[in-house]
Amino acid sequence: MVLSSRFFFSLRRVLLSTSVLLCLSLLCFSSLTAADDELTAYEVLESYDFPVGLLPKGVLSYDLNTSTGKFSVYLNGTCTFSIGSYNLKYKSTITGYIAKDKLSKLKGISVKVLFFWLSIVTVTRSDDELEFSVGIASVDFPVTNFDVCPECGCGLDCVNKKVQRIRRGPFAFSS
Ligand SMILES: *[C@@H]1O[C@H](CO)[C@@H](O)[C@H](O)[C@H]1NC(C)=O
Ligand SMILES: *[C@@H]1O[C@H](CO)[C@@H](O)[C@H](O)[C@H]1NC(C)=O
Repeated sequence: MVLSSRFFFSLRRVLLSTSVLLCLSLLCFSSLTAADDELTAYEVLESYDFPVGLLPKGVLSYDLNTSTGKFSVYLNGTCTFSIGSYNLKYKSTITGYIAKDKLSKLKGISVKVLFFWLSIVTVTRSDDELEFSVGIASVDFPVTNFDVCPECGCGLDCVNKKVQRIRRGPFAFSS
């Protein structure tokens, strides 16, 4: 009687520790995958030395093969906005290859030049400049222009309006 209860006791302990181990490894596994999922598309851009503002706000999800750099980014519909004198258009799916300081074989991003929409094929970073190439021509911008993600529709103006409102605050106060 005593023996059998001891036997059951130790059996229970073995089962308990096994399930604890199982739980721990499951927890560990799920937290690892969660950590992978937690990187947003914007953080992925940063990890390759690019500014977040290369993508507009509202990325739903992305796929990335870290060994080849091949990626797809999914937006909630097409997105157009203007930055300065440039009109930009993002399709709902953007694909290409990402490496440190270089985006290549891009598909889905175009810029309007005169009357034509031209596809941006590569984006290269050298020091503090970003070079956008449409194949036949390229244009350089300071990296700091892309510190903020543009919003579909209003681009960076929505941000500027907010900043202006904040900046006007003290002036309104003192007058
Ligand atoms: C990444 O791409 C390579 C080459 O196409 C392929 O062999 C590999 O399975 C891919 N990895 C993932 C995680 O899709
Ligand atoms: C996608 O866009 C539609 C219409 O613009 C909006 O109703 C919906 O909430 C958006 N979905 C997400 C996940 O942002």
